[in-house]
Amino acid sequence: MAHARILLIGGSGFIGSQVAARLAAAGRRVTVPTRRYERARHLLPLPTVEVRVADIHDDAQLGRLVAQADAVVNLVGILHDRRGTPWGAGFEQAHVRLPARIAAACAASGVRRLLHMSALGVREDGEPSLPSMYLRSKAAGERAVRAAPTLDWTIFRPSVVYGPGDRFLNLFARLQAWLPVMPLGRADARFQPVFVGDVAQAFVNALDRPVTHGRCYELAGPEVLTLRQLVALAGVHGGHRRPIVALPDTLGRLQAALLEFAPGPTLMSRDSFDSMSIDNVASGPIAAELDLTPTPLGAIAPAYLRRGPAPFGTERMRARR
Ligand SMILES: NC(=O)c1ccc[n+]([C@@H]2O[C@H](COP(=O)([O-])OP(=O)(O)OC[C@H]3O[C@@H](n4cnc5c(N)ncnc54)[C@H](OP(=O)(O)O)[C@@H]3O)[C@@H](O)[C@H]2O)c1
Repeated sequence: MAHARILLIGGSGFIGSQVAARLAAAGRRVTVPTRRYERARHLLPLPTVEVRVADIHDDAQLGRLVAQADAVVNLVGILHDRRGTPWGAGFEQAHVRLPARIAAACAASGVRRLLHMSALGVREDGEPSLPSMYLRSKAAGERAVRAAPTLDWTIFRPSVVYGPGDRFLNLFARLQAWLPVMPLGRADARFQPVFVGDVAQAFVNALDRPVTHGRCYELAGPEVLTLRQLVALAGVHGGHRRPIVALPDTLGRLQAALLEFAPGPTLMSRDSFDSMSIDNVASGPIAAELDLTPTPLGAIAPAYLRRGPAPFGTERMRARR
């Protein structure tokens, strides 16, 4: 095994928990740093996974964690942030500075292998023309990873990720349980949802494969669906299908602005609305060397939507993430 000890940054999250489980199943020793122990407590039953409370934005703490690893996986990301120029402080810290600091820590410790999570829609050349701060800051983070001369990096760009505990289909199912109708901005935006298990497996499969070094991979499922179709599907399988009222863009953006300032978890923001002005669809099938057959939505989503949101998902909603 080329990389036995993995530092899994962002490993307590929705996707990270699946990556941790699969790395543990493959016999790797995994360290998951977290800001709050209780957010990673669900990982404790996994053999070979260790949870450590750490501030990864502190160079000394990050350096010590990286120095004890053979490879680093970085999954840290946030969907919403305050607005700013060129983007908010949260995007700057999580999407831009952190990848650059991880790359520097890897160089300092002689760790060569880095797997980095980006997002579908990001293009190497396209930073200024990307429609949202989320995508532009992710592009800047990718640039920092690519620029690191000593790294064997691999970058992943998934479309929206679904699975038990997701905050996409579960959210639409929950909203339809509360609301008599679903007012929906960007109803015709197109997505290619990818199963969280497939995303996690892509990371695990790439880890020891040199052919993936210096490559960027789109990850998407087998079907392209509009937002309207996805909301309808969440309604049907969640047991509360409501009529969908597609909003024109001006009203959709106003709705996003109102939701941005509403109390409780941020369900939507103007930036997310802006992200949806471009299709979230892959340019081709998943690369053969990742050795994945993407799982159809219908094979997974109905069962967990019928059960309702998992406690894990509910916890994270309350935590405003
Ligand atoms: N979910 C999707 O549909 C989707 C689609 C495309 C790309 N992605 C990308 O995939 C990655 C993981 O997404 P996810 O859905 O699994 O997210 P998530 O459930 O919110 O998990 C985020 C993880 O990042 C950590 N984190 C967040 N903000 C941080 C900060 N400011 N400083 C330090 N740690 C921070 C959290 O650790 P703590 O334990 O410390 O809270 C948590 O482990 C992100 O980069 C996201 O942009 C996700």
